[in-house]
Amino acid sequence: MAQVFHRSTNTLSRLSIYGAVFLFAALAAFAYLVNQSAYSTEVHLAREQPVPFSHKHHVTEDGIDCRYCHTTVERSSFAGMPSTYTCMSCHSKIWVASPMLEPVRASLATDASLRWTRVNALPGFVYFDHSIHVAKGIGCTSCHGPIGDMPITYRANTLYMRWCIECHNHPEQDVRPREEVFSTTYRPPSELSPLVYEGRRYPTQMTLGRYLVKKYRIKSPKDLTDCYTCHR
Ligand code: HEC
Ligand code: HEC
Ligand code: HEC
Ligand code: HEC
Ligand code: HEC
Repeated sequence: MAQVFHRSTNTLSRLSIYGAVFLFAALAAFAYLVNQSAYSTEVHLAREQPVPFSHKHHVTEDGIDCRYCHTTVERSSFAGMPSTYTCMSCHSKIWVASPMLEPVRASLATDASLRWTRVNALPGFVYFDHSIHVAKGIGCTSCHGPIGDMPITYRANTLYMRWCIECHNHPEQDVRPREEVFSTTYRPPSELSPLVYEGRRYPTQMTLGRYLVKKYRIKSPKDLTDCYTCHR
């Protein structure tokens, strides 16, 4: 019997099936990339601010501690934002006439506070608390990235649920001595530069991390990944 379909049709249909599968995979990959990209996560995007405030200048070059401006970070869920008076404690004496600081002077004159654009923000249904992280040895840079190098503040991490969970499952990978929480130059120990802490030598983050998890009585991953921890 004569073939109904020419033999080449096989190749054709196979091609179009592969084509469809390939197209689907490409679309899925694209959707994934868009979802992960700076465009939708806003990671690494510099924000427009009323005053071009530089952490690089104030923290790294002038050596001002985080707590001078973010005064409640150790004792409350909210880190706190500096008032105009905090800026003026220095800028009524230095850089007094700088045009860059005009909005700060205007804010003082009109008694209307500066409106900083939020860089990090969680949806309202997520519970977060700064003070517990500070108390348990999680450094500012573990979540906010190299803030001491930023001329303009950007978000360093996605703040997605799986990002929180990753650390709640393995706090030993990030915990550091409490004395180092505010440091922007802290590096985890390594074979080349081990950390001597309380008279003992720690050549890796894992040895130090396991010790600090015990010392600070950090809760178990089971407790820390319970939905109620972050959704209450
Ligand atoms: C001289 C005051 C000052 C000091 C010191 C300071 N900050 Fe800030 N910080 C600000 C101001 C003003 C803003 C708002 C403008 C901006 O986002 O850059 C800010 C914003 C931030 C933000 C982003 C807030 C948001 O909207 O999500 C983070 C994170 C932050 N600071 C962390 C730190 C850390 C960590 C330190 C210490 C290493 C520090 N800051 C020291 C004044 C300060
Ligand atoms: C403890 C003192 C101190 C405080 C508080 C302070 N500054 Fe400054 N600021 C400085 C010094 C010192 C410089 C000079 C910068 C440099 O060259 O290192 C400066 C420079 C600046 C500049 C111009 C230089 C630049 O390019 O960054 C701006 C803008 C500025 N500060 C904004 C602010 C704002 C806004 C606040 C309040 C949130 C603030 N500062 C709080 C000490 C301070
Ligand atoms: C475990 C991760 C983590 C650590 C550690 C951390 N932050 Fe944050 N920070 C966040 C998140 C998440 C937000 C957004 C909070 C929100 O939207 O409710 C935030 C917001 C902020 C803000 C904006 C104001 C606010 O509280 O919402 C400032 C300022 C800030 N952090 C400063 C700091 C400083 C200073 C330190 C170190 C002492 C620090 N953070 C440590 C995750 C962290
Ligand atoms: C780099 C590590 C790290 C990251 C990232 C992190 N956490 Fe945590 N978190 C911890 C540690 C360590 C504790 C302290 C646990 C304890 O109380 O022993 C903690 C505690 C908490 C607590 C208090 C839990 C309790 O019951 O005492 C909340 C709430 C919390 N984290 C929310 C979040 C949220 C929301 C995020 C993401 C936006 C986040 N955390 C990201 C390390 C982290
Ligand atoms: C360590 C903190 C943390 C824990 C534990 C946690 N979540 Fe979340 N969850 C978050 C954060 C942060 C977001 C917001 C993520 C975003 O903006 O995309 C979120 C978002 C969500 C959302 C909204 C949809 C989405 O993915 O954005 C749902 C639903 C949710 N969580 C369910 C749960 C359930 C169920 C559990 C327990 C198995 C849980 N969460 C445990 C931090 C947490």
